[in-house]
Amino acid sequence: MNKTCDFLVIGSGIAGISFAIHAAKYGSVVLITKKQDSDSNTNYAQGGIACVLNSNDSFESHIDDTVIAGAGLCDNEAVKIMVNEGPARILELLDYGAQFSLDDDDKAKTSENTDSKNPYNFHLGREGGHSANRIVHARDLTGKELETKLLKKLRELKNIIILENHCAIELITGHHIKTAANQYKCFGAYVLDSVNRHIFAVSAKVTCLASGGAGRVYLHSTNPSIATGDGVAMAYRAGAKVANMEFIQFHPTTLFHEKANSFLISEALRGYGAVLRNAAGDEFMKRYHPQASLAPRDIVARAIDNEMKVSGLPCVYLDVTHKDAQATIAHFPNIYNRCMAFGIDITKNLIPVVPAAHYMCGGVVVDYCGNTDIENLYACGETASTGVHGANRLASNSLLEALVFSYRAAINASKRIEGCHQINAENIPIWDDSGTTDFEEWILLSHNLWEIQSVMWDYVGIVRSNLRLNRAMRRINLLEKEIEDFYKRTKITHQLLELRNVVTTAKLIIVSALKRKESRGLHYTTDYPEQNKRGWKKNTILSNRSKSPHSTGLMECTQQ
Ligand code: SIN
Repeated sequence: MNKTCDFLVIGSGIAGISFAIHAAKYGSVVLITKKQDSDSNTNYAQGGIACVLNSNDSFESHIDDTVIAGAGLCDNEAVKIMVNEGPARILELLDYGAQFSLDDDDKAKTSENTDSKNPYNFHLGREGGHSANRIVHARDLTGKELETKLLKKLRELKNIIILENHCAIELITGHHIKTAANQYKCFGAYVLDSVNRHIFAVSAKVTCLASGGAGRVYLHSTNPSIATGDGVAMAYRAGAKVANMEFIQFHPTTLFHEKANSFLISEALRGYGAVLRNAAGDEFMKRYHPQASLAPRDIVARAIDNEMKVSGLPCVYLDVTHKDAQATIAHFPNIYNRCMAFGIDITKNLIPVVPAAHYMCGGVVVDYCGNTDIENLYACGETASTGVHGANRLASNSLLEALVFSYRAAINASKRIEGCHQINAENIPIWDDSGTTDFEEWILLSHNLWEIQSVMWDYVGIVRSNLRLNRAMRRINLLEKEIEDFYKRTKITHQLLELRNVVTTAKLIIVSALKRKESRGLHYTTDYPEQNKRGWKKNTILSNRSKSPHSTGLMECTQQ
């Protein structure tokens, strides 16, 4: 049975939920999520939310730090909006019941506290690239605290339907609707109920893509398994512009242990005083950057990569043993307990760490109110490219960006739904899966996924070259053809949808990386090791508009 609503939200991380909470004041909302509603990148965020909430800090300083990290590609206006509007969004989280770590032995606001810019007495942490303490956090479980409180608020609202275990297959655009004048207008999405394997259409006046990032395009990632680039891939196939996909952030420190599944060791631990050492005990970051272990993330990740290549060893180490053990446990209970489970007592032992794919700085191009270039389609959170991150995201800016721009998107969308023509759900063509059969060798899908992830890890990682990127392109082209073939003749499952999105996203990353003939921010290539000062301060934009939309994820790439 098809469904109708004012707002369709795809994704249940901080961006999707906060868009839904605000949109629900103006109309009916359907929110779909691939697994349970709390399965999102947000839930895994440890560090916190960067925000100016202290009179020793300033908006200008946060803006400068963000722009410096972004290596010439930040949209300054977007950065200003995020920084200036940040505090209001943090205070709203308190209204939803969020509890952040406080200074002064966790005492709540007291009358003696006279700092008017930090009236809630938040404990403000420090992370790489920030010139002040400005990270609001809930010990090392910030994402979980936010996700829990946002979901609680969402569930209290009346006109929201949450559909768990539902995946978006494809955006419904003018291409599907015979009477539509505009081919690049969105009318909702085709959705798979992955438990009952039933496909239906959701007709929506506004659709918001908030499906998170794409860390799972890589073999090693801090992201949960749901981070498969769905929003970017679907939007690209529907004809939306996608920007700066070459800028994939690798987090320098994830736990190196065969069973740890790239568990994140928060940068906040370095902000607290932990230092990086190699196997010889050398505090090697001092040789790479004046800020040593707290240097910007791209520099730390490349330095670790280099140390591992030079030593031939599979990891480096994070050392927090010089800090007070009880304080370390109190501030980082999650990291402490997780490492303990693998026999590593971080108050006494060095923590073996390696980099892993962490954050997609590019995404679907949006304006300052979340509008994509497809009418009635919005994007926010990691799926969107607002211009805030430029070529390299400053630590802990992503949750802030998601909060600020999802709010702006919801307010903008609430105006759009007035007078918006909606297609009657029953007039949307039913999903045509004639000629498809149930495929028996599902194991081949996981082989394909592993191949893509390995290719991306080996050839499109922290240090790139034309040779490696072209090698990756040839392999991904082959895999893409195989997957399209599966897709055309097989009854859809959520694994197949994810695989198709992974291969499209992988290709967007490679094509973008091949286009950028310089090293900038997170994109480092040995063929062009310097930043090109002339003419290259520009975004890498990809668009599918000249191709046949939706039918295939295939795209041309001129090898360079
Ligand atoms: C971390 O806790 O190190 C991650 C924070 C971020 O990626 O912004």
